[in-house]
Amino acid sequence: MKTDVQKLTAADGPEQYARAAALLRAGEVVAMPTETVYGLAANAYDGAAVKKIFEAKGRPQDNPLIVHIASFDELAPLTAGVPAAAERLAARFWPGPLTMVLPKSDKIPDVVTAGLSTVAVRCPSHPVANRLIREAGVPLAAPSANLSGKPSPTRAEHVIRDMNGRVPLILDGGPCEEGVESTVLLLASDVPRVLRPGNVTVDQLRGVLGRVDVDDAVLHPLANGAEAASPGMKYKHYSPDAEIIIVRGDYRDFVAYVNAAACDGTWAMVFEGEGEGLAVPYMIWGNDDYRSMSRRLFDDLRSLDEKGARRCFVRCPETDNSDNLAVLNRLLRAAAFRVVDV
Ligand code: TXA
Ligand code: MG
Repeated sequence: MKTDVQKLTAADGPEQYARAAALLRAGEVVAMPTETVYGLAANAYDGAAVKKIFEAKGRPQDNPLIVHIASFDELAPLTAGVPAAAERLAARFWPGPLTMVLPKSDKIPDVVTAGLSTVAVRCPSHPVANRLIREAGVPLAAPSANLSGKPSPTRAEHVIRDMNGRVPLILDGGPCEEGVESTVLLLASDVPRVLRPGNVTVDQLRGVLGRVDVDDAVLHPLANGAEAASPGMKYKHYSPDAEIIIVRGDYRDFVAYVNAAACDGTWAMVFEGEGEGLAVPYMIWGNDDYRSMSRRLFDDLRSLDEKGARRCFVRCPETDNSDNLAVLNRLLRAAAFRVVDV
């Protein structure tokens, strides 16, 4: 299949969106930018179209997709009922990087939800995604636009690398503002529970809802035989080819540890202003704050492979700061939970 790449902005007119919208209505898959990461979109009401997403990604069939809508009004038809909590959350965080998991309506094909009785829905704030949903006139099921297991794409170039020849059209809306995927919140339970942390933080959710639990799988590997509340949690994720090792401790101890362990192909990932004394090449992945770290994390993980890195030691973000939950969750998975204390 030939893959076209088209640059799109919010300022473009409907004619610029026409091709992508027509492809989506015809049951094809289109890669689109969102404020979190790029997504691989298809008409959520068309089971055959959604199947093509799984094929393009090489995604396991039992991992459900998020349905994207353009406004809160479009939520009700997808669900078996919209609780008051969802209304309050939408008023505060939509459009934006919050996904709500609710009991599903019969209109959603089983392939979207991997047979679950719930559906995950979000309303992206990226103007191109928002316009595309409106122009297509249907809700769009979309996972992240990476090959299954790879870091999520935060630039069109990442999508081109993974999806060239696999989808007819990739929309280039520039780099993603957030850089990590949306917060996934289960509302179909007694106490709302965060299944995947994102940049809508747990504290922000608690500010609206009161009690909110955080699923064990967020910071710990699943116990053998345990069932994942969010099927995505059980898969190896976000992994570059290079081996990632998180090193927890202060900067001086980090440098001593890395320099002693260095061999061919060793890299380091450090915070802004650091790098002094390192005997290995390094990458900077932000100031030690969650928004700048999340914006660059996946881009940096992918760069390691381009640079031929075999191993990378990564400075550990503060683990007792709950705002860092999303970055820690992605980093722990990229590192297969390997953390060294120095
Ligand atoms: O920011 C995002 O959420 C991006 C952009 C493209 O919107 N999308 C994204 O999709 O990250 P994906 O498929 O890579 O991750 C969806 C996550 C998976 O962990 C999946 O298991 C979970 O959401 N999920 C989807 N439907 C679910 C459901 N009904 N119940 C529990 N977890 C669900
Ligand atoms: Mg994904």
